[in-house]
Amino acid sequence: MLESLKPQPPDKIIGLMQLFREDPRTDKIDLGVGVYRNADGLTPIMAAIKDAERQLLREQTTKTYTALAGEPEYRDAMVELVLADAVNRQCVAALHTAGGTGAVRLALELAQSASPGISVWIPTPSWPSHASIAKHLKLSSRTYRYFDHESKLVAFDNMMSDLAQMRKGDAVILHGCCHNPTGADLNAGQWSELSTLLESKEALPIVDFAYQGFGDGLEEDARGVRELAVKFDEVMIAASCSKNFGVYRERTGALLVRTENTRTAGLIQGQLAYLNRQSISFPPDHGARLVTMVLRDAALRSSWLNELNAIRGSLQHLRQSLADELRKLSGSDRFSFIVSHKGMFTLLGATDEQVAAMRRKHGIYLVGGGRINIAGLSERTVPIMAAAMLDVGM
Ligand code: LMR
Repeated sequence: MLESLKPQPPDKIIGLMQLFREDPRTDKIDLGVGVYRNADGLTPIMAAIKDAERQLLREQTTKTYTALAGEPEYRDAMVELVLADAVNRQCVAALHTAGGTGAVRLALELAQSASPGISVWIPTPSWPSHASIAKHLKLSSRTYRYFDHESKLVAFDNMMSDLAQMRKGDAVILHGCCHNPTGADLNAGQWSELSTLLESKEALPIVDFAYQGFGDGLEEDARGVRELAVKFDEVMIAASCSKNFGVYRERTGALLVRTENTRTAGLIQGQLAYLNRQSISFPPDHGARLVTMVLRDAALRSSWLNELNAIRGSLQHLRQSLADELRKLSGSDRFSFIVSHKGMFTLLGATDEQVAAMRRKHGIYLVGGGRINIAGLSERTVPIMAAAMLDVGM
């Protein structure tokens, strides 16, 4: 029976990670999977997380089950981190999920159970899992144009005209900040215009929020999502702690659902716990406990924030260095968009041949379309990267 199943194509990003590991070249450069790397190419455990871990090791006395929806302290801390005081906490249902991916998956499932015929609008391009999770759930999906391949900025007019075709009540996936894969973000005015359009469509915004703190700052990056939470009675937010707390493998995320009133929030809270019970029962505790400790302890929080701010600074510095080097080598300004992008990624708009040549000739790994993880670069490798890009005809 089982042999009748069709093989699944390898996941593009995770497959690339594997190819990189298998490449014997010692000077290879990984700009693929979205993981922060320091100047030595390492992904260290953040100091505040390590301190919290030491404390936990000393103080934790049990590993018994927690709660289906996750610990209330973690859920409260995540609502505060993402939404601050934008909305009444009692109107927000919150679930501890297995990473940001788990939150996206459950957001789509929840939308589907509430409205079985719902369509979900996904930006082109987007993080590949958005479309594949929707497909896996047999949700009807539509795409909207997001990126202008000429200017490498948000194709805002196209985005608006595509979303103007939404049916009332459709869901739309938005990236809260640091758009993956492009790095091109909406500005404050565009967030407002977009939310006005979505309001007129009675749309359900589902915000993927995986890079808070990597763009302009912890609070600044949350402006768009908070504006939606204020304007809409119903918004879902898939938040991830993988990147901003560096706890990737601990699978620490949260699904926050802003609802119209406290009664609906109670109903949805029960739905969310139910969804965990049907898949994983109890969410993985370790990462969430560390995140809670960091957010709740003044000294740990300040250490974390300093490190997060330094990470953001180093990403911005590397962006600038790459754009400068490309300007120097190419004698043109055509790569200046790299500096205007936010967060970890920039979409270079490379062809498949160019991406393949970067890998084959130069041992530089890019995701299809030419998404690069800026953090995979260093002062030493920026000139190598710039020269390789021009060599393959970018
Ligand atoms: C990425 O886009 O590289 C990250 O979000 C990791 C992943 O799961 O794809």
